[in-house]
Amino acid sequence: MMKIPNIDDVEAFWNDKPCGLPSLDSPGDRKPFFLEIEKQRYQKHPRILYYADFKSYRLKRVLEIGCGIGTDGIQFSKHGALYTGVELTEEGSRIAKERFKLFGQPGEIIKLNAEELPFPDNHFDHVYSFGVIHHSPHPEKIVSEIYRVLKPGGTINIMLYNRTSFYYLIEVKLIRKIFFKFCHKKKLCRAAFLIFNKELYSRCEAFREKLQIMKMRNPRPSQQEWLSMNTDDAFCPIAGVYSKREAGKLFRAFRNFKSEVWFIDKDNWFLWLAFMRFIPGRIINWLEFNAGWFRMVQAQK
Ligand SMILES: C[S@@+](CC[C@H](N)C(=O)[O-])C[C@H]1O[C@@H](n2cnc3c(N)ncnc32)[C@H](O)[C@@H]1O
Repeated sequence: MMKIPNIDDVEAFWNDKPCGLPSLDSPGDRKPFFLEIEKQRYQKHPRILYYADFKSYRLKRVLEIGCGIGTDGIQFSKHGALYTGVELTEEGSRIAKERFKLFGQPGEIIKLNAEELPFPDNHFDHVYSFGVIHHSPHPEKIVSEIYRVLKPGGTINIMLYNRTSFYYLIEVKLIRKIFFKFCHKKKLCRAAFLIFNKELYSRCEAFREKLQIMKMRNPRPSQQEWLSMNTDDAFCPIAGVYSKREAGKLFRAFRNFKSEVWFIDKDNWFLWLAFMRFIPGRIINWLEFNAGWFRMVQAQK
């Protein structure tokens, strides 16, 4: 069992690996670089545009928790929201600030831990957060701060990872465990990876190497550690998953709670990469909207 990660571990991890930033930084003209990031994000996740509904917050005070490099944040600003983004890491907030400045968009980016927000009660009309709260050691503290700073009648739109997802139940709890068991057997794994094409073969091999390092560090990860290792990266310190009931409990102070699921990561899940071509389209559709990986929570104070 490894030491229980704290907020400094979370900060160090995301600071080294700002979310949504391609591995190669662009030293040249940064505008096309950011526009490409934006294009790729909404191509991969077109439903963000539907759920986030950026255009509906003109002149509204919007707070984003964990804005990362500001890709969604700048959409709120472009559509006229009075935007504030908070972000745990120096690197994420630096890039988000650079981006707002570069595109001449108004908005405030603050580097801080959202478990304690420096805003008055009843201040914001809307709070948005995509894939953040489940990475915090104290998600309930963030949720209680969101409730405090939200105006009565204000709305929230928050993405959490879904416990009752195909990815968690089948890939994380089953397929990847088998992978972990055998990841030190290089030859065996490499033979199994031959079912993939060349590009996928090298990605599987890279993942196997990471798992092997993790295994040397921690041969018997706890359930929580295993989950954290299998969401965003093998070295991700904390990740949580929420069923509808668990999400309802986390947001119990709010009213009009609604939760919907979506998203299948067709580019990264091993089971998917191997068998996707055999699965009929309507089953894929059903899986996405009944057992997808993203749980979108919407509610009101
Ligand atoms: C998976 S990334 C998502 C970033 C962004 N929302 C996006 O969708 O691209 C998680 C982000 O949450 C930030 N984060 C995690 N815990 C946080 C906290 N307690 N307070 C503020 N930001 C936090 C991390 O630094 C990281 O940038």
